[in-house]
Amino acid sequence: MSEIERVGVVGAGLMGSGIAEVCARADLDVLVCEQDAETARVGRERIRASLERGVRRGKLTAREREAAESRLRFTSDADDLADRQLVVEAVVEREDVKMGVFEVLDKVVEDPDAIIASNTSSIPIMKLAMATGRAGNVIGLHFFNPVPVLPLVEVVTSLLTRTGTRDRAEAFVTRVLGKQIIRSTDRAGFVVNSLLVPYLLSAIRMVESGFASASDVDDGMVLGCAHPMGPLRLADLIGLDTVQAIAESMYAEFKEPLHSPPPLLLRMVEAGLLGEKSGRGFHTYPRA
Ligand code: 3HC
Repeated sequence: MSEIERVGVVGAGLMGSGIAEVCARADLDVLVCEQDAETARVGRERIRASLERGVRRGKLTAREREAAESRLRFTSDADDLADRQLVVEAVVEREDVKMGVFEVLDKVVEDPDAIIASNTSSIPIMKLAMATGRAGNVIGLHFFNPVPVLPLVEVVTSLLTRTGTRDRAEAFVTRVLGKQIIRSTDRAGFVVNSLLVPYLLSAIRMVESGFASASDVDDGMVLGCAHPMGPLRLADLIGLDTVQAIAESMYAEFKEPLHSPPPLLLRMVEAGLLGEKSGRGFHTYPRA
């Protein structure tokens, strides 16, 4: 089985662009497939800005930045992913949309050993695997935002993921991308979001009920518990639409009230107050 050198990323949003960036920084040939031209443009700019920031912070040289940029290509045609050895799906956190992507990838990716991975935060991998005719090659590779900075990837195997797929995927993540892995079984939310999402939703309920302000909740966790950012600032970073989608997947799986998205979160998403990416969520942000 050949080394993974050609990677595809489907989706150029926050996570897709971060995954594409770390792959390009690891000397891989990276093709990003994004159908929406504006999302592709913003994704490309986000990668550029992050590479530039990496240079400023001494994480890579100017030459390495140029080399990484030269290894990144964008397409809007999924057929172009035919020669990829690993494809990571990172589209919006909606089961129907992700299943559609997996059906397409199953048709276009030619290598029978290619790994088809999802960066889903919460949707069981089995559901996505069953949209393909090669469930043994399907795995969850769940990255964390900001992807160039956070070292973790959760590796999620379904009941049908082949051991060989898992071993290759883990070797790729650790040896090629230089990230650390934890293993999770295939339950909505996996390890990290099973802990994180109830915490974020509790913080939103505190604000919703007038118990405390968003700033005070955040300051409490930053100053009192040394978290790098408070839960509402973190929800804004993740994107409130994504927080809602993850909570809904987890609620659908477990039927636990602690996973139920609070009405304030639903109203904010309906209003387009999606957090950092829209300029306003629980806090406000200068527009990029
Ligand atoms: N490339 C490489 N490294 C970079 C970089 C870039 N583009 N930008 C920053 N860095 C490095 C910096 O050099 C610095 O490293 P150092 O400590 O070795 O010098 C480090 O990253 C921190 O950078 P900054 O000092 O610029 O930024 P802050 O200290 O303000 O930290 C933050 C920003 C990393 C976002 C931090 O606040 C943080 O970790 N917040 C929590 C984020 C979090 O919890 N994410 C998980 C979200 S959950 C998720 O994604 C799962 C999903 O399913 C919901």
